Amino acid sequence: MNENASGLKSQVQPIVVVDSISKSFTHNVKVLDNVSTRVTKGDVLVIIGPSGSGKSTFLRCLNGLEDIDQGTILIDGIPLDDHEKNRLKIRREVGMVFQSFHLFPHMTVLENVNLAQKLVRKKSKIEATQLSKDLLQKVGVDDKAAVYPNELSGGQQQRVAIARALALMPKIMLFDEATSALDPEMIGEVLDVIRDLANDGMTMVVVTHEMGFAREVSDRVLFMEHGCVIEEAPTERFFQQPAQERTRAFLRKIL
Ligand SMILES: Nc1ncnc2c1ncn2[C@@H]1O[C@H](COP(=O)(O)OP(=O)(O)O)[C@@H](O)[C@H]1O
Ligand SMILES: [Mg+2]
Repeated sequence: MNENASGLKSQVQPIVVVDSISKSFTHNVKVLDNVSTRVTKGDVLVIIGPSGSGKSTFLRCLNGLEDIDQGTILIDGIPLDDHEKNRLKIRREVGMVFQSFHLFPHMTVLENVNLAQKLVRKKSKIEATQLSKDLLQKVGVDDKAAVYPNELSGGQQQRVAIARALALMPKIMLFDEATSALDPEMIGEVLDVIRDLANDGMTMVVVTHEMGFAREVSDRVLFMEHGCVIEEAPTERFFQQPAQERTRAFLRKIL
């Protein structure tokens, strides 16, 4: 969301570079088939597509949770390859938020947000707590720091999960249907947090079915089907003048 009139943005180096990646879980069936894309620093890429099209697998490949069979991924100039050092660096740079929140039930909200800072960033409890409190305030649950996750609503738990991901100070955030498991009245409060991050200039790749939100918050939209990129375009062009008939058919179904 950092468009400027001089068109300087197009000269900015992409922070995510994906070139022709493919992946199969079983022989023959490609879950990702020759997928390429780029994300410019500060941009939001929204990925849409039917269930089973490979969206989650794509996100998991981006932070090294899944291995790719072919192609290359560069995150902030670091190749996501077999070198454990590179993979660790990338894990730290890429935060991820899932549909289910995966908070540790036996730890308080504050301890959940502190944990990775202590383990990964080797911070003291005092240092970690300072940042955690700031982040919990940012996502609007600072009054819940001392409680356990099961005392929170789904929307609150998801906001804590976002704070936890932000606590590693990632350069890129991935969201995989972060609001799909929520009751309708809680979707808005989580989308608000993601929208704030976009406005702050966080680079993000967001898989979502919330089309109004997608249109408002993204710079580009990528439509995926059967593991292939059917179409990728700047947001307004994507929604107003999709080039592919399959994109038009999909949009007709969901809009
Ligand atoms: N760990 C796995 N093992 C085998 N098949 C998988 C695995 N994860 C995903 N798949 C398959 O890969 C395809 C794409 O799945 P996924 O990336 O979850 O799609 P989406 O997020 O778009 O719904 C589906 O056919 C799914 O069954
Ligand atoms: Mg998925």
